[in-house]
Amino acid sequence: MRILVLGSGAREHAILLSLQSEEAGHELFAAPGNAGIAEVATLVDLDANDPGAVTEYANAADIDLVVIGPEAPLVAGVADAVREHGIPVFGPGRAAAQLEGSKTFAKRIMDAAGVPTGRAVRARTRAEVAAALDDLGAPHVVKADGLAAGKGVIVTADREAALAHAETYLPSGPVLVEEFLSGPEISLFFLSDGDTVRALSPAQDFKRLRDGDEGPNTGGMGAYSPLPWLAERFGGEAEFVAQVTRDVAEPVIRRLDAEGTPFIGLLYAGLIVTDAGVKVIEFNARFGDPETQVVLPRLVEPLSQLLLAAASGTLEDTAAPTFSDTAAVTVVLASEGYPEKPITGRPLSGLDAAASVDGVHVAHAATATGADGLVATGGRVLSVVALGADFAEARDRAYRAVDAIALEGGQFRTDIAARVVD
Ligand code: AMP
Ligand code: GLY
Repeated sequence: MRILVLGSGAREHAILLSLQSEEAGHELFAAPGNAGIAEVATLVDLDANDPGAVTEYANAADIDLVVIGPEAPLVAGVADAVREHGIPVFGPGRAAAQLEGSKTFAKRIMDAAGVPTGRAVRARTRAEVAAALDDLGAPHVVKADGLAAGKGVIVTADREAALAHAETYLPSGPVLVEEFLSGPEISLFFLSDGDTVRALSPAQDFKRLRDGDEGPNTGGMGAYSPLPWLAERFGGEAEFVAQVTRDVAEPVIRRLDAEGTPFIGLLYAGLIVTDAGVKVIEFNARFGDPETQVVLPRLVEPLSQLLLAAASGTLEDTAAPTFSDTAAVTVVLASEGYPEKPITGRPLSGLDAAASVDGVHVAHAATATGADGLVATGGRVLSVVALGADFAEARDRAYRAVDAIALEGGQFRTDIAARVVD
């Protein structure tokens, strides 16, 4: 197949590496891509957020499948335009992508579909925020309504800090004040063709910048998969996945279909396992980053077949995806100053040494090739991905590889998957 992947992160690199590993042998294209992606795909110079430009290119280049990585092209209506031209595209249209683009929309769909989630109040003024904070109690959770790359959320015991956070977003619209949900977080991905859903294997993401879940929220500083502790809590991964499929994914997909906005693409359920059951904290309308880097290397079936089936409405005819028992760990290397003000343009070296560690590969996120070699061009620079027979081995490999990489001021967490090592 000729496959075009939109996006430029480690998630897109991971998707392309999975596609490249298939026996079928695909011709891969990416826009805009990065220095790592350039090694597996032909980079195409087009604006990935421009529905007309993407459709025109996909048409002219005889693309068989378009895969949309990030949320921005979805919200911009790229999938709608490509689909209208009859080209299979993995990614929801603008309306269904509101599940991620608008927290208010997501809450409405969850209410209508009877999906378990925390209480939430939409507030337009400082006084409404203050009343909601007092009503829901501490710890406080305040969220901007629109897309904020994981940075629009504050979780704090400090009422003044919660109010101040709300005030930075209120000028651009209402904020959501939410009930605090306590428990371990899980990211569970579902492929959907608008009707049938197929779950992937769960992962856990590390959202905070620093060890011990300290520091600001980020896009994600590391992840691991599978989650061995599901056995104790739910009897096993299969039982957990079946429950979330029944209680969360299927009702949401049915509801969106009933509203005339079918969801074709990846439904990302951000979950918290509370004492009162599994609850949704958020949905995304795309693969998670960095969770994708640990889920896809464990996928047994060819990814292209699953994505194409979802894009073509034939998921029902495919078997449920299966996953190897391999332990997968990813550690994200970020630039100094991330997430507030990343310092970019610094040289990056040691990637070959990192990739030579057994079971390790590097997924590039924000890299470019400069006159003297690689440079870091953004906040999250790369994802070191390590596979192992168990988590002790995967972690050891991941951190040996991270230590081989040099980036001045580079930040990474040292406790990714530490708790699952016996
Ligand atoms: P979101 O942007 O909704 O993904 O939120 C980012 C992160 O904030 C989540 O991954 C959680 O760690 C935390 N968070 C968001 N909402 C809640 C909540 N209601 N209760 C507890 N933690 C939350
Ligand atoms: N890792 C969190 C996200 O992709 O939104």
